[in-house]
Amino acid sequence: MPLSSLISSLPKAELHLHIEGSLEPQLMWDLAKKHAIRLPYASVAQIEAAYQFADLQSFLDVYYAGASVLLDEDDFFKLMWSYLCRCREQNIVHAEIMFDPQAHTGRGISYQTFMPGFIKAIARAEDEWGMSVKLILSFLRHLSEEEAFTTLAQAKPYYRFIEAVGLDSSEKGHPPAKFKNVFARARQLGFKVVAHAGEEGPSDYIWQAIHLLGVDRIDHGVRCLEDPALVSLLRERQIPLTVCPLSNLKLKVIKDMGQHTLFTLLEQDLLVTVNSDDPTYFGGYLNKNFNVLHEALNMDAQQLRKLVSNSFKASFMEDAQKQHWIDKVNAYF
Ligand code: ADE
Ligand code: ZN
Repeated sequence: MPLSSLISSLPKAELHLHIEGSLEPQLMWDLAKKHAIRLPYASVAQIEAAYQFADLQSFLDVYYAGASVLLDEDDFFKLMWSYLCRCREQNIVHAEIMFDPQAHTGRGISYQTFMPGFIKAIARAEDEWGMSVKLILSFLRHLSEEEAFTTLAQAKPYYRFIEAVGLDSSEKGHPPAKFKNVFARARQLGFKVVAHAGEEGPSDYIWQAIHLLGVDRIDHGVRCLEDPALVSLLRERQIPLTVCPLSNLKLKVIKDMGQHTLFTLLEQDLLVTVNSDDPTYFGGYLNKNFNVLHEALNMDAQQLRKLVSNSFKASFMEDAQKQHWIDKVNAYF
């Protein structure tokens, strides 16, 4: 079987996906029309053409502007539903999905609007094809820790639908240390903990995320290679890294895909996974990320097998459920 067919047919988990980063240009266009919002684009093609970024911040400016078309419960349902339908097409059987409450509460849209939309779409996908989904509430790190505390408190009616808390947005100048109290509170409440670290920011932010936030997983983390002691710690503790190849290329963390260090990380026995981050902005969903690794770095079937098994191993599923999927993956080889 050609590797691209194997990539599409294998059952996979996606662990690093921002739901707001899965907003398709066509849906953005339709929702802007529905709510009579003026976009700075004259067509869907112009929206797509605008997705050229110099760095993380230039992307985030476009990403938050795009999210402004999401106003009512049905908009959030459609956003989640479209991504879950993509999962079905791509054989993503389990997804751990981040959402940015403050990107909405900051515009006067409450949890009571977006959470019911998300929850209804997830329930339907679970019901219709047995997809499994967990939600990760992510704090925006360019805002204050006090605002993160408010965001966590506002989520209280929905705690049972949320698996973990995370940390995203502008990395440089906003170290994990800034959020250590709110992460301690989240852990006390029983949430799992993840954080973006070492994407654009220094490897020291990965240390901080481990020691000050107590993370279960690091999002990105590619800059760990600058520090051999950190690589040893990640290996010993098997702290997963949710790596996003197309994102790293689009945000100029790397110059070309041939330079991506994902397989260096894998060779060092780190628990690396492949993810799409913000697929509509970065040019591809999960299978495309695997395909570019094959095209640019000659990923072979055994490396694919390891990465896909890791996606389940690094997830927040129950152990028996992880094993069930890892056995299914192994059966393909
Ligand atoms: N929010 C959405 N995508 C992000 C990324 N790649 N890094 C930080 N914050 C984000
Ligand atoms: Zn991300």
